[in-house]
Amino acid sequence: MAADTANLPFVKNAWTIAAWAEELDNGPLARTIMNQPIVLFRDTAGNVGALEDRCCHRGAPLPHGKVVEQGLQCGYHGLVYDTTGACVTVPGQKNIPPDARVTAYPIVERHQIIWIWMGDPARADESLIPDWHWVGDDGWRTVKGNGGKPLPVACNYQFVSDNLLDISHLTYVHASSIGNDAIMDFPIKAERLNSVIKMTRMVMDRPPAPFWGRAGKFV
Ligand code: FES
Repeated sequence: MAADTANLPFVKNAWTIAAWAEELDNGPLARTIMNQPIVLFRDTAGNVGALEDRCCHRGAPLPHGKVVEQGLQCGYHGLVYDTTGACVTVPGQKNIPPDARVTAYPIVERHQIIWIWMGDPARADESLIPDWHWVGDDGWRTVKGNGGKPLPVACNYQFVSDNLLDISHLTYVHASSIGNDAIMDFPIKAERLNSVIKMTRMVMDRPPAPFWGRAGKFV
């Protein structure tokens, strides 16, 4: 059954991953982020845009369009938008109404990741993007889960945060890979940093979990 997400609170004033950069290689990409239908695209100059997924003319979904020289062309009557959301071409007329535009979201491409800011654009500070340079570093190998596609989880997204913050389940759910009994013998340390919650559990002088044992050649 689909999750009811209509009234969820979202952390909007933060950078959120919208896509892997390579997902924009094949034209416009439709994605729903925080209940907002978004179209992501890369223009012919290589710039990335994130626009509301609704043409300002007759409301057609923009992912049905295509990237042309001037920007993203609506697939219905051919209006073209640039990455700022401004309409730059109206077929058959020279005048472009100044209010012909769609909402554009702040967007940054970094470390092979497309980051989007869904909140107040004035607060979209690029220095707040987490340093995940390893993802885009040739000296490291990145294994993208689910074939590089989003992994649908049919639940309130807060359950996913809960799952990752409370790793006491590793002992039981992941006993054959990244969990073992030793985890439960050590307390968890919770810290509230500026805009981050950090959970740490140091497991000392115990046999490693099966996966870590093999990875580190400890067993
Ligand atoms: S609905 Fe997009 S150009 Fe008409």
